[in-house]
Amino acid sequence: MLIIKTIDAIQEHLGRCRDQGKTIALVPTMGGLHQGHLQLIDKAKSHADVVVASIFVNPTQFAPLEDLSNYPHRPEADKKGLMGRGTDVLFLPSVEQIYPKNQISGYEVGEIALLLCGKSRPTHFKGVAQVVSRLFDIVEPDVAVFGEKDYQQLQIIKQLIERQKRKITIATIGIVREDDGLAMSTRNKYLNTKERVLAPNFNQALRQAKSDYLGGMALNDVISRAKDSLGKPFELDYFEMLDANTLTQITTSSTDVIVISAVKLGLNRLIDNIVFRRLNV
Ligand code: PAJ
Repeated sequence: MLIIKTIDAIQEHLGRCRDQGKTIALVPTMGGLHQGHLQLIDKAKSHADVVVASIFVNPTQFAPLEDLSNYPHRPEADKKGLMGRGTDVLFLPSVEQIYPKNQISGYEVGEIALLLCGKSRPTHFKGVAQVVSRLFDIVEPDVAVFGEKDYQQLQIIKQLIERQKRKITIATIGIVREDDGLAMSTRNKYLNTKERVLAPNFNQALRQAKSDYLGGMALNDVISRAKDSLGKPFELDYFEMLDANTLTQITTSSTDVIVISAVKLGLNRLIDNIVFRRLNV
């Protein structure tokens, strides 16, 4: 695995790969890698000849009081994990490489960025779109791979590709979970023992909501039941059931439904979702 830190060096290397007719897949991450991230690498390998993973803790997607300075940093374990899965290139740019002075271009993310997680994190998706756009410019991948755990982020990136008319195929993987249902996340290691025991109740509430809805319960009742079941110590940010393709209200023409939620558990923010087909369509 090549470890490359500068834009010049990665572009030179990938230029040579392209000259040999090879296709390139990009897996953007912020490090602190777990099995979910490593499955993105497997997916990337099945789609392209050369797999580039990037690790960059992007400052522009953290709000001032969020955990930028405490974000897990485990470069040696990450390198080992990526190498073990056959990653070809690890791109480890500095902040100066990604955001050279006076050259930071913002990206208007549109209305979708103000829903759901965007309500409590109003600048977050703008930062995500900014860095992903910049990584696309640098790597020029044929394929980029993202996880459905960050479902809203995925929709925003799909829109970005469309609006910027980029020829990049998006590949996705479903949510990778612990055995007890908790969605894997870099931040899970900050849950204390008691919180870790309770954390699977979050996914349980989403699964219950799905089965209540498919069982014919009225949507409002489904949501209130789920909210009630997540009593203390969960602090609810949102719990919604929406059209999975538009992230707007379910209508008679919706084919897929998403139950999607964010909660705080202690100091940690957890997100999770389940996508399923609507009945009778
Ligand atoms: P990060 O949180 O490191 O996640 C990197 C990728 O891993 C994302 O596509 C995310 O959806 C995926 N992922 C994380 N946990 C997962 C799980 N349990 N199952 C499946 N996929 C999972 O998302 C980001 O970084 C950043 O916002 C980034 C896109 C890199 C831009 O900075």
